Amino acid sequence: MISQTLREARKYEEMMEKRISAEERPDFHLAARVGWMNDPNGFSYYQGEYHLFYQYHPYEPVWGPMHWGHAVSRDLLHWQYLPAALAPDLPYDKDGVFSGSSVTGPDGSQLLMYTGVLKEPQSDGSYLDIQTQCMAMGNGQDYEKYEGNPVLTEKNLPAGSSRNDFRDPKIWMEEDGGYACVVGNCTGDRDGQILFFRSKDGFHWNFVSILAKNNNRFGRMWECPDFFPLDGKYVLLTSPEEMLPKGFEYHNGHGCLCLVGSFDRETGTFTEERDQAVDYGIDFYAPQTLLAPDGRRIMIGWMQNWDTCNPHPHGQKWFGQMTLPRELSLREDGRLIQKPVRELEAMRRSEVRYEKVCFEGDLKLDGIRSRRVDMEIKLYPSEKGSMYQKFAVRFAQGDIFHTAVSFRPYESILKIDRKFSGSRRGVIHQRRALVNHKDGEITLRIILDRFSVEVFVNDGEQVMTATIDTVQSAEGISFFVDGEARMDVVKYDLC
Ligand code: FRU
Repeated sequence: MISQTLREARKYEEMMEKRISAEERPDFHLAARVGWMNDPNGFSYYQGEYHLFYQYHPYEPVWGPMHWGHAVSRDLLHWQYLPAALAPDLPYDKDGVFSGSSVTGPDGSQLLMYTGVLKEPQSDGSYLDIQTQCMAMGNGQDYEKYEGNPVLTEKNLPAGSSRNDFRDPKIWMEEDGGYACVVGNCTGDRDGQILFFRSKDGFHWNFVSILAKNNNRFGRMWECPDFFPLDGKYVLLTSPEEMLPKGFEYHNGHGCLCLVGSFDRETGTFTEERDQAVDYGIDFYAPQTLLAPDGRRIMIGWMQNWDTCNPHPHGQKWFGQMTLPRELSLREDGRLIQKPVRELEAMRRSEVRYEKVCFEGDLKLDGIRSRRVDMEIKLYPSEKGSMYQKFAVRFAQGDIFHTAVSFRPYESILKIDRKFSGSRRGVIHQRRALVNHKDGEITLRIILDRFSVEVFVNDGEQVMTATIDTVQSAEGISFFVDGEARMDVVKYDLC
C-alpha cells in the first residue's frame, strides 16, 4: 500500500522533472530529480542494476521533511529516476525518513534499512528527535515498511548512548548468511561512536559492540558510517560533525574520516591503525560503498558541504549532486586510494594528446577545452636539477570566470580555488592539500561535469572535489607555469 504522502511526492516529482531540461543538470553525476538531495542511501546492486537512493525533499531545493529519492543505473554513470521510494508517513518516522542502506533479503526482496525520526516535545517548548532504525521490503521500485518497526530503539543502546543521535544504519550480509549493521551515535555529551549490531534474519537485531569511539579526537557526533574489508584490512568510514583541522587533514568542518585497522569478528572489536581524510576539496560528505558483482568496492558521496549549501544558484529547481562513484583500494602502507569507476572510460571521446610540452608562462593547447572532460596531466621539471615555482591549470574559463588548481613544488601544496567561478557569495572557495611529488613530478586527473570538478592526485592518492556554478559557455582550459616545466596531457570529452 502506497501512502498518500508518498503518492503526492511521486506525482509532484514526475510533473516537475519535465520542467528541468537535460542541460540544466549534471551529465553523469546524479542530482536530485527535483528539489533537494543530500546523502546517498541504499547504494547497492539488485537484480542486475545499481540502485542509488538519496535523502530527498522534492518540494523545495532546501532541506525539509526527508523522503528517499531513487535512481538506477547499469554503468554507475547514466542514471534513470524511479519513483520516490520512502516518505515520512508513519508515527515512528513522520518527521523524517533519514539515511540508511540496502541489502538483498533472505527471500530475494530488496531490504531497506533507514532511520525513522519522530520529534518529541520537551518541557521547555523545544523538540528533540527520537531516532530509531526501521526496515522496508520491496521489489526494486515499491517498498512496504515492516510491521514490526522500529527494529532498533533506545532499548538496544549501550549505557551512556544518546537516543536523539542514533542514525544512518549501514547493513550488509555476513559470510554465514546473517546480517550486520553499523549505526552512527554519540554519548550524552555528543562524542561520536559507532555501534555494531547483528541479526539472523535482518529484522531482529542484537547489540554486539561499540565498534569505534571518538574520545574527542575527530569532531563530535559521527554520522553515516560504513564498514567493510578491503585488501586484507578493515575500513571504517564515517562523517563527523564539526571537525577541527589537523595540519592539512580535515579542513571540511563536517568532513569525512577514514579509519583503517583490523577486526575481530567474534567479539566485534575493531583495532584502529591509521586515520586520514577521504577528500581534500570543498564538497564531499556522507559517502557510502557497495560491493560490485566483480568484487570492486565502490564509494559514492554527497558532493556538497553543509556549510555552503544555502546560497545556491537562483532559479535552479534542483539542489545537491553525488560525486563520481570511486573504486577503492588500500596501498601497502594502509593509505586509501580512490579512482573513478572504470566505466567512465567508455564515455571517452575525441582524444587529444600532447607529450613533453615544454613551456613557461601561459599556455593554451589546441583542442583542449570543454566542460565535460576527463583530462590527465603529468607535470615535471623541464630539465633535471631545475625546478619551476608554481604550476596552474584553469578550467571552466571564460572572459571573467575560471576555477584553478595550482601546485607549488617547494611547499608541496596543491590548491583548488573557485573564487572566480561566478559565485556571488563569500563562502569557502579554496582548499589546500599537502601532496606528494618526486622532484616536481606530479599527476592530476581532472574530471569535469557541468557543475563540478574532481581532481585525482597521483593516481588516487588524494582527491579534491568541488561544485562549480559557472555558466556553461565558460569552457576554456589553460595552463600556467612560473619558471619552466614540461607536461604530458591527454584529454577526452565525456559524453
Ligand atoms: C548527514 C545527515 C544524516 C541524516 C541525514 C538527514 O548528512 O545529517 O546523519 O540521516 O543527513 O537528512
